[in-house]
Amino acid sequence: MELKQAMQERRSIRGFKKDPVPRALLEEVIALANRAPSSMNTQPWHLHVLTGEPLEKVREGNSTRMLQGVPPVREISDHGAYAGVHRDRQVGIAKQLFAAMGIERDDKERRQDWVMRGFRQFDAPVSIVVCFDKSLDDNGTIAHFDLGAVTYGLVLAAWSKGLGCVINGQGIMQSPVVREHAQIPDDQVIMTCVAMGWPDEDFSANAVVSTRRPVEEVTRFVGFDD
Ligand SMILES: Cc1cc2nc3c(=O)[nH]c(=O)nc-3n(C[C@H](O)[C@H](O)[C@H](O)COP(=O)(O)O)c2cc1C
Repeated sequence: MELKQAMQERRSIRGFKKDPVPRALLEEVIALANRAPSSMNTQPWHLHVLTGEPLEKVREGNSTRMLQGVPPVREISDHGAYAGVHRDRQVGIAKQLFAAMGIERDDKERRQDWVMRGFRQFDAPVSIVVCFDKSLDDNGTIAHFDLGAVTYGLVLAAWSKGLGCVINGQGIMQSPVVREHAQIPDDQVIMTCVAMGWPDEDFSANAVVSTRRPVEEVTRFVGFDD
């Protein structure tokens, strides 16, 4: 698949077939993503690829704690609630997803069920927990940038192989659970996870194409003649 096609067609996938993903294919995807640039080539990322029992335990622990009302425990700082234009865009994608799924605005049960799916990493057969070296934590911003690069590489490379992903902040909202069952070493910080698997074509939210601000709005050209 051409890079252009993958970049244009990729979208978040939130419904997966049960079929397992071969380890060799995951290794190919990771080898491509691992070519991501990083500050001074520090390559501060660590990718923990979970499936089977450890992933089930993460889903279970995450869901149980969220249902019990345990406040989120992350290892990176949280931005809090979005406001203004950012909130508008957040509401925009939520409306698109709920419309695709036929979830009405006042259907509290199905809305809650959707949120819980997120905490279960959308029942994907694979979850890649993305971590960075704790020794960089004092200056975490640069490492966060590096991890964004490798994570986008992961989802693009996966897409080029027919796999679907959603970067899944909800999946690490109870990071102690992830740390325990994925056996994350103490010298690493959990940043996010990526739920991955074969897209279920019958899952309507998978067809949702999120909007983008026009290029003219996100860009300024400086010093050009035309
Ligand atoms: C850091 C980050 C965290 C995300 N966490 C979640 C999540 O927890 N649940 C979810 O459904 N989507 C999550 N997403 C996916 C975004 O909602 C999605 O990328 C955005 O709406 C644009 O849609 P697209 O990926 O289909 O282009 C996350 C994306 C990023 C970059």
